[in-house]
Amino acid sequence: MTERQHGAQSDDEIPTRQPVLEMNHVSKNYHARGMSRRLLDNVIHASAKRYQGQRLALDDVSLSLKSGECLAIIGESGSGKTTATRILLGLLAPTAGSLRYRGKQAPMHSTEWKRLRRESSMIFQNPYSSLDPRWTVRQSLKEAVSLRFGRGLDPSSVEARSLKILDTVGLDGRVVIDRYPIDLSGGQAQRVAIARAIIDEPEILLADEPMSAVDVTARVQILHTLQEVRTIQGASLSMIFVSHDIGMVQHIADRIVVLRQGRVLEQGSCAELLNHPQHPYTMELLKAASL
Ligand SMILES: Nc1ncnc2c1ncn2[C@@H]1O[C@H](COP(=O)(O)OP(=O)(O)OP(=O)(O)O)[C@@H](O)[C@H]1O
Ligand SMILES: [Mg+2]
Repeated sequence: MTERQHGAQSDDEIPTRQPVLEMNHVSKNYHARGMSRRLLDNVIHASAKRYQGQRLALDDVSLSLKSGECLAIIGESGSGKTTATRILLGLLAPTAGSLRYRGKQAPMHSTEWKRLRRESSMIFQNPYSSLDPRWTVRQSLKEAVSLRFGRGLDPSSVEARSLKILDTVGLDGRVVIDRYPIDLSGGQAQRVAIARAIIDEPEILLADEPMSAVDVTARVQILHTLQEVRTIQGASLSMIFVSHDIGMVQHIADRIVVLRQGRVLEQGSCAELLNHPQHPYTMELLKAASL
């Protein structure tokens, strides 16, 4: 557990880096299902207790992603990890609090928010949901390149770029490029999804439980792929890695944030958290670690 893992960076190096993405005092309330906004407002004013009956998914959460680092967000199911990541990528508006990108406020639809959307990519839990079943791997990768660089690119350079990126994620491009998602194993499909997410050279890569839908062997391959991506991209890529398993994240993260019931319980460098966890809940997560 204490050994420094491939892909993670020196503890001395990270604190000096600038935050690239920050969430400040963010709370998120989901409306109770089936309740109109007006009715909900009446309920809120009528009873503070009922107000708590809404789903408070995040409660005053502050965290920051530094340039070039990998930040892990861990916690049990329902702790607010996906909500936090969707807010961090500007896909969901917070109920309270703010988001900053590259030192500037980035409310939804602002210039900074558009820049964040353009410069970030996401890998989802289920790889088949992020790949169009009607498209071959070649078409999926071509689409991702076109979105970033326009459709006027020379087809041979798109093909070369696609083969190179498939090689980066550990797949033989000549074998998989003409396959449809249904013809790929879960691990292969997730690696194609990673290739698709990084082919347009994002500044921020967010992976939400990227290994939980595949078998153990494929998990290790995906972890190695993400470590490799970090090594190749270096300081130009900042990554957020979401998991319920602290055993997984220790192999890739520089820092860890522990969420529980929508609140940050503790955060610190990977080594600090693994060797000197402060909270009993973090100790429980360590006991349940898989790798
Ligand atoms: N769209 C929604 N509407 C209402 N409640 C929601 C919605 N999305 C999430 N929630 C609730 O918010 C809380 C946090 O959910 P979230 O999906 O962020 O947790 P998570 O840590 O990602 O969980 P998991 O590990 O299961 O993916 C949960 O109580 C969940 O039921
Ligand atoms: Mg989730």
